Amino acid sequence: MIVIPLNIKEQTEIAKAKPSGELLNWDDLRKMKYSWNVACEVLRMRPPTVGAFRVAKTDFTYGSFTIPKGWKLHYLPHYTQRNHEFFPHPEKFDPSRFEGAGPAPYTFVPFGGGARMCPGNEYARAEILVFMYNIVTRYNWERLIPDEKVVIDPLPRPVHGLPIKLIPHKTEA
Ligand code: HEM
Repeated sequence: MIVIPLNIKEQTEIAKAKPSGELLNWDDLRKMKYSWNVACEVLRMRPPTVGAFRVAKTDFTYGSFTIPKGWKLHYLPHYTQRNHEFFPHPEKFDPSRFEGAGPAPYTFVPFGGGARMCPGNEYARAEILVFMYNIVTRYNWERLIPDEKVVIDPLPRPVHGLPIKLIPHKTEA
């Protein structure tokens, strides 16, 4: 299981600047750069899909392989995203890989790429950041099974569904 370094500065600053009860907007999501880098590093190390298929439209050569027209190809984000050439020390959890220009094109592909790239990727980004914002601004939490294992069958998931105990932040009276 990856232990994610938490830094709730971004969420705290956004929450402080908002009138009570006002919902998040796109500008707020754009400010959560570090949080998105953390999410991307999780998507790099544990891509939630096993890739997708493509059909070769023409004969081509890739490395030492000749792929004939009509063959079906399967790409795996898991392997590409652990390539030492593009992600030094690939087993290290390091959100700073996504700072600046980030990884080279087509090396970070949790949402696929090209014309059939996942159309839900921006929606998924919004969902992940809204979830992160709400959980860190409202709660602390404790994992109920500290050393819970992750199984891959075929998608990665915590064996027991990651049970946690939520502890609401104290609100001032
Ligand atoms: C973290 C969340 C998500 C991940 C990692 C993900 C990943 C992927 C991947 C790898 C593909 C295959 C892309 C390819 O063929 O190269 C895909 C396709 C697709 N995804 Fe997602 N997805 C996510 C969330 C969503 C959401 C929230 C929606 C819809 C609201 C969505 C809708 C679709 C659709 C419709 C396709 C098929 C696109 C096509 O074949 O043209 N996905 N997704």
